[in-house]
Amino acid sequence: MRKPIIIGNWKMFKTSDETVSFLNAVDGACQQLEVEAGVAVPFVNLGLAKQHAKNLIIAAQNCHFEDQGAFTGEISVDMLQDLGITHVVIGHSERREMFNETDETVNKKMLKLLAKGLTPILCCGESLGQYENNETAMVVKTQIQKAFKGVNLEDAKTVIIAYEPIWAIGTGKTATAQIAQDVCAIIRQEIANIYDEVVANTIRIQYGGSVKPENIKELLAQPDIDGALVGGASLDPTSFLGLVK
Ligand code: PGA
Repeated sequence: MRKPIIIGNWKMFKTSDETVSFLNAVDGACQQLEVEAGVAVPFVNLGLAKQHAKNLIIAAQNCHFEDQGAFTGEISVDMLQDLGITHVVIGHSERREMFNETDETVNKKMLKLLAKGLTPILCCGESLGQYENNETAMVVKTQIQKAFKGVNLEDAKTVIIAYEPIWAIGTGKTATAQIAQDVCAIIRQEIANIYDEVVANTIRIQYGGSVKPENIKELLAQPDIDGALVGGASLDPTSFLGLVK
């Protein structure tokens, strides 16, 4: 049985004061949830967020794939681990589109995180043009194949995949539950092709893209959707609690 996992992706939102007031409002209410829940916080507030979160997972939104070096502005996995961070989002479409993230760098980050014992939240998903050209299956399969290159079977089971159609991110256009389910099933089948049925049945696949308290139930009711990666609707405490409860 796969435990659902809901992660709020805060992107470049919330100052330190706003981070603390969100966690003071939300964390205590997140004891004994039926799902795992957390928020992916900007680097600068990760340490503070960890201090104020007893129940929520505090995730990073990115990392570098080298241990250390002359990489101005970058953050290593050891630095995240020092703060007690256990989950890191990699390959988000905004990083792929705006910050030169590629399947190759995503793969390097995946391997580094797994080698250090952290859980990657690996994002994949197609653009509107690719969706309209019926290229979704090919695009996500290629992203999955490249991201998992060199990942062993035991480590693969621990990865969380987030399927996020780019046309549904921040646009208010959610993929229908059926579209989301169909693509998540394709992703699970691809994991079975690369590894085996056990890995495919163990790995958790989130859907992301305009998830809200009003549509999360139908999305999570789908057999291959095991959670959500939520941007806009994760910023407000009431909305976040509406998602996880
Ligand atoms: P959204 O963002 O929920 O605001 O569409 C999702 C994401 O980018 O992870």
